[in-house]
This record gives sequence, structure tokens and C-alpha cells, in this order.
Amino acid sequence: MFVSVLLVLLCVLFIFLQLRSGRPKNFPPGPPILPVVGNLLELNLENPLKDFERLRTTYGDVYSLFIGRKAAVVINGLETVKEAIMTKAADFAGRPQDLLVNDVTQRKGVILADYGSSWREHRRFALMTLRNFGLGKKSMENRILDEIQYTIKTLEKSIGSTLCPRVMFHNAASNIICQVLFGARYEYDDQRIKVIVQCFTENAKIANGPWAMVYDSIPGVRHLPLPFGKAFENYKTCQDFAFRLVNEHKKTRVPNEPRDFLDCYLDELEKRGDDGSSFSEEQLTNYILDLHFAGTDTTSNTLLTAFLYLMNYPHVQGPPPQDNQRFMGHSHLYRVGPGRVRKPVFTTEKHECGPFIPLFLLFRLQGTMIIQNMASVLREEGQWKFPHEFNPENFLNEEGEFVKPEAFMPFSAGPRVCLGESLARMELFLILVTLLRKYKFIWPEDAGEPDYTPVYGVTLTPKAYRMKVQPRTSN
Ligand code: HEM
Repeated sequence: MFVSVLLVLLCVLFIFLQLRSGRPKNFPPGPPILPVVGNLLELNLENPLKDFERLRTTYGDVYSLFIGRKAAVVINGLETVKEAIMTKAADFAGRPQDLLVNDVTQRKGVILADYGSSWREHRRFALMTLRNFGLGKKSMENRILDEIQYTIKTLEKSIGSTLCPRVMFHNAASNIICQVLFGARYEYDDQRIKVIVQCFTENAKIANGPWAMVYDSIPGVRHLPLPFGKAFENYKTCQDFAFRLVNEHKKTRVPNEPRDFLDCYLDELEKRGDDGSSFSEEQLTNYILDLHFAGTDTTSNTLLTAFLYLMNYPHVQGPPPQDNQRFMGHSHLYRVGPGRVRKPVFTTEKHECGPFIPLFLLFRLQGTMIIQNMASVLREEGQWKFPHEFNPENFLNEEGEFVKPEAFMPFSAGPRVCLGESLARMELFLILVTLLRKYKFIWPEDAGEPDYTPVYGVTLTPKAYRMKVQPRTSN
């Protein structure tokens, strides 16, 4: 009996040693690699950010992990991240092409496009078109301020009770980008856009969740009916919505008199004809979905995070109007000058929630996945006065003036820097300032202790919460 058990154990050990994949030579250090699963057991697949931080203390700013049999290098900290995405930008500007998200989006659009001509052409086109449609100009500011009126209407209805702000902020951000992309805004209870926003938010979670890891690391399971299938279904729903919009636009457009981004793209398609470029109707459908997603989930989750903290740090919401003459000075909605977003008179600028947007980004360097851990920069010891605190002092110098720390890079940097940064800054600034001038936001007495632990995904989302709204004038 003893001999048999020993033999079995020896066989297991032999197989283990055979299967064990070693780290390639000159590869960054990392934890021991197990057969098949690699280092998956080192990671909490629901949210690996804490594990990335833990491994950093053992292996340093650059270490390697095996996600199944796939090699990945994790880069941490401002200096390393800067060196990669700025100094060696061209090497680090690619995107992996063999993940669940690539299959779901059929390798179209810009967010996941690899570093190459299609990405370059589409990025350039979007930047130019967004600029022509008023980014940094008054028209965009007005669109945002108009949308805020709907947010205010929703908030007004909740006075005297409490409100879950998730749908409201998602719809506000969605409407702002929808107007730019296809000239439409939707009521907050419109079923069509509700479904689209729901599909996107769900996909943002699936894309960075455990089932995506299974899909990415075990190709054999990709055709099985497993939970990642929902991501394909959701995307198909969004694609049908986008197809309909493209078709409607094709029927109603006047060539060379574009009403929105979609018309501009159709003009561009006509202009290019059959020039062999990467522009196509199929690209267009996925491109508007990309931009809609990129412009909605990020902005609304930043707002949700901001209000979660502001309610629990009420002093940061600013003094009541009567205590601050400058604050009182504006009797109408707060407006910004063309091209430049001004700093609000009290310190609730969007920047305060910067350290709480810890996405990690994936790049590909000669076949190796690079995990650029932005959370490690946005909370890095030595870069912030209070790296782990929600504290406006992080952005103020000794004189109480605003300074932007170098490590504040929630939009990343280098060639893949967020394409909608100016729009996002303007939205966050106008929404926060307008709402905070008008209302006090209060954590409901019966809500218990706030839970700041975010739900992990492509973006980090605060857990659902309720807010109480009190008009400032009733103080
Ligand atoms: C608070 C709001 C936002 C945050 C924190 C944010 C953050 C980011 C980050 C970190 C990236 C990745 C950069 C990289 O790969 O290094 C990114 C990419 C991108 N963002 Fe944003 N973003 C926001 C809002 C927006 C908006 C409003 C738009 C709408 C146009 C947008 C469009 C994009 C696009 C298209 C990309 C892909 C760019 C490329 O790969 O070339 N984002 N964003």
C-alpha cells in the first residue's frame, strides 16, 4: 500500500515537474509558476489590484505573472509607467488581440485597436471631429449645461426622500456623448438607452472578471456555453442599436452638412471611396459603440465615486453660499470660458477623486501582455501627501493653490492617452460645480457605514448607494 502511494506521489511530482513552465531567460522575476494555472492562484480574480500591490512589495516595480500559460509583465509606479508609455511609447502602445474583449468587439473600433494605421487614422479622425463639434468650445459647454437641467429635475423629485444616483449619472453622461455622436438625447426612463447602458456596464465587469480570465487563458473553452457568452449577447444588442442609427442617418443626412459625428464619418467614407483605408461602415458601428462606452462608464463612475466621498466628507462640499461671497457671485449656472476649464472657487474639483479611478491597462510588447497598473501610480507613496486618503490637500501647495501632482494621470499618458480627456474634464467640472452650488448631498442617516470597496471591472464602480439631496437655499 505504502509503495503504491509513494509511486503515485512520485508520478504526480514527475508530471508536475514536466508541466512546470519556467520563466524565460531575462524575464522579470515573479512568483513560482504552477502547471496549467500559472499564477492564477496568486490572484483574487474578482479584483486582483491588492494582489498586484502585494507582489510589488516582494518582486519590485516590474514583475511577471503567468495568467494560465500566458506571460504578462506588471509595471508599477510613476517612474516605470512613465518610462514605458512615454519614453518607450511606440513599444508600449499596442493592445492584445487574443482576449475575450477582442472577440466580442470583432477587433473593430479604436479602444482595443492594435498600434497601427487603422488605430492612427481613426484616432486622428475622432480628435478632429470632436474638436469641430465644439470640444473646448462654448457649444459643448451649453450641451452639458442643458443636460444638467435634466439631472436637476431628477434631483428635485427626490427632495424629501433618497435617491440611487447610478442611472441618473449614467444617463447624463450617455446623453452628452450621444448628442455628439448621433445628435440624440434620451429621457432617463427610455427603454432603448437603458438597455444599452445596462449591456455596457455588464460587459465592463465581465471583461475584467474571472470568466474573461478563463476565456483568455484556456482557448479550448471558448466555444462552450459559459457565462462569458453574455458579453457577446450584450454586444450584439448594442450593435443592432448602432446599425439602426447608421441606417437612419444614411436616409436623413445631407452630404457635407454633418449634424454629428456619425454624419462626419459617412462624409469621410464617401470622400475616401475605395482608397483601401480602414474606414468602413462596420468600423463605424463599432466605433460609435466604443466612444459611447468610453464616454459613459468612465464619467458616470467618476461622478458616483466623487459623490460617495463628498457625502462622507461634507466639509469638502464647500461652505454654504452665504459664507462665501465668490461662491455667491454666480446667480446662474456656472459657466467656463472657451477652451479652458476654470478652477471652481471651492475645492471639489474632479481631481479629488483621481486616486479612485484605478484601472489597469493592457498593452502588448512583442507578444507579452503588459499590465500597466495605474492604481499603483494614483496611490503611490512618495507621490502624494496623503496617498490613501480622500483629501483635497493632495492637490494644494503650501499657499493653498491648486497644483497637479505628476502622478495624477487618470487619463493615462503617451500616444494612447484618453481621447475624450477634454470632454470628460469639462463634464465633470460642470456637473460637480453646478450641482454642488445648488445642493448639499447628504449620506442618509439609516445608510450605515459607507462601503468604499469598489466593484472591479474595466472601470471601478462604487457599490450602489443612496443619497439625500438638500437645496442650499433652505439652509
Ligand atoms: C472620467 C472620465 C474618463 C476617464 C478617467 C478616462 C480614462 C481613460 C484611460 C485611462 C484610457 C486608456 C489610456 C491608455 O490606454 O493608456 C482611456 C482611453 C480612451 N478614452 Fe477615456 N476616460 C474618460 C472619459 C472619456 C470620454 C468622455 C471619452 C469620449 C470620447 C473617452 C474616450 C476614450 C477613448 C476612445 C479611448 C481609447 C484611446 C486609444 O486607445 O487611442 N474617454 N480613457
